[in-house]
Amino acid sequence: CGIVGYAGYNEAAPFLLEGLQKLEYRGYDSAGIAVFSDKVRTMKSQGRLATLREKVDAAGGIPGTLGIGHTRWATHGAPNDINSHPHTSMSGRITVVHNGIIENYIPLKEELESQGVVFRSETDTEVVAQLFDKLYDGDLVGTLIKVIGRIRGSYALGILCTDYPDTLLAVRKDSPMIIGLGEHENYIASDIPAVLDHTRNYYLLNDNEIAIIKADSVELLDTDRNPIHRDIYTVDYDISAAEKGGYDYFMMKEIKEQPAALRTCIGSRIHDGDIRLDKIRLTDDQIRNIGRIHIVACGSAWHAGIVGKYVIEELTRIPVEVDLASEFRYRRPILRRNDLCITISQSGETADTLAALREAKANDVHVLSIVNAVGSSIARESDDVLYTMAGPEIAVATTKGYSTQLAVLYLIALKFGEIRQTIAPATAAKLLTALEALPDQLESLFADEDALKALAKQHADKNNVFVIGRGIDYGASLESSLKLKEISYVHSEAYAAGELKHGTISLIEEGTLVVAVATQDQLYEKLVSNVKEVKARGAYVVAIVKEGCTDVEGVADKVFYIPQTEDIFTSTLTVVPMQLFAYYTAIERGCDVDKPRNLAKSVTVE
Ligand code: G6P
Repeated sequence: CGIVGYAGYNEAAPFLLEGLQKLEYRGYDSAGIAVFSDKVRTMKSQGRLATLREKVDAAGGIPGTLGIGHTRWATHGAPNDINSHPHTSMSGRITVVHNGIIENYIPLKEELESQGVVFRSETDTEVVAQLFDKLYDGDLVGTLIKVIGRIRGSYALGILCTDYPDTLLAVRKDSPMIIGLGEHENYIASDIPAVLDHTRNYYLLNDNEIAIIKADSVELLDTDRNPIHRDIYTVDYDISAAEKGGYDYFMMKEIKEQPAALRTCIGSRIHDGDIRLDKIRLTDDQIRNIGRIHIVACGSAWHAGIVGKYVIEELTRIPVEVDLASEFRYRRPILRRNDLCITISQSGETADTLAALREAKANDVHVLSIVNAVGSSIARESDDVLYTMAGPEIAVATTKGYSTQLAVLYLIALKFGEIRQTIAPATAAKLLTALEALPDQLESLFADEDALKALAKQHADKNNVFVIGRGIDYGASLESSLKLKEISYVHSEAYAAGELKHGTISLIEEGTLVVAVATQDQLYEKLVSNVKEVKARGAYVVAIVKEGCTDVEGVADKVFYIPQTEDIFTSTLTVVPMQLFAYYTAIERGCDVDKPRNLAKSVTVE
């Protein structure tokens, strides 16, 4: 979900709608805004923001210079008009937008109902509005402190109270929230791009901090009402990076930004043939003594972690475990003090990954994070951060986020291998040269765009796709396959090619599309045999191989080549044709590429 809020002297509604537009990637099941002038007027609507905008326009706007807005990714209650935020208390005094989950909302709701409160929606959020109103004694901050003493779970809240016509109240716990500082106006938002057009100066709110926001002031308090001094955080990235820049969809823009993103991510860390991993606290001694690495992440970041395992184990000989954050946090992982936890997250706000990070820290394990969003919760709470430097990523399906995560993992593997002396200097130099060549090599793959578009057209009606590979190619296949699922709604499975014969091969029939990724020299012949097995059962096979492996032409129906590189780096290249194939398949099937159904880019709930 995404939140915005405005306190100033201009009309709030246009700002709120514009801010929500920028946050739509966080959820788009429904949206709503509430603006206060003589009273609070709320408008909300199921579906995309455009529907809400039409409603507001049809009503001739909503007057007022104080307001809050919300775009929702439904957790409690169906995504209909009633369950959309903002939610207002029965008396009309308190209006709330909320991102997160109130875990004890059922007992609180029952308690309030027994006291005569009538609820309109099925949401956990309405409980906050009604509870606030019930406890309200004229002291706005005092009441908020009482409310947060009663609610459990995660929340970023924006609150309006009709007794305070100039004040917007905000608080957060385990859910992101920033405060934008403007000239005679101030803002709240779930993240920086929502208000980047208006200011570059921010307060980053921490857990259990309260903000009292007015047109000309922002006051931060802790829950004992002590004032908090916070340094202003200034953002220097380019606003145009968060705009489409002539492309139909953000996803295509971000696919095409990968070479530049990789150049920044890799290039800024290699100096005179030496890798410099920013300023990290982890010492060389600690690196030499690492017992085990735990990579923890969700979604595509987890896929990057799987490839990372192969690369790190190969170059450092440190055993690596890769966990889904949602599993790690509840499985009582065995963590030792000399272990290292690497969390990976594009947004830096994924609730499960954040919880896993905290679990590792609670066990005294050093946490090194690979994050894209600067200043995000995961970045702030980690012992060390290596930023992916990809710039804002807006499309829900990640592309440049994933490829820069891979790049940082390669850098870590190389650097650790050097420090632990598990790679010979000559090998290290060869690998570094290969790493530096990746951005240009990735760029050269765009030459296949038309062929991939044609392939997508040819197979757009296929409802089952298999992506097979061995070793690292299997790791990369997981990500390639997810792209198809996410944006084109094609059922697609990644399979370790050697495992096919143990079950999945029964699903192969005449015309089934199989993408075979075969870039590992040592495993190439074996994969070609797997291709023959599925061909014999009628599959249409698309092969992705290294330049020079032309013999596969005789076996596969269509072949795409990636430039020659070291085997451990091929995932950066093999995923690109599949990003393009998924993109054009989604277009052929009439899907909304940037905002696939049911998904959100940043999942800040468990
Ligand atoms: C969501 C997105 C995925 C993403 C995952 C992890 O589910 O839809 O594309 O990979 O979150 O996000 P993160 O920001 O932690 O990398």
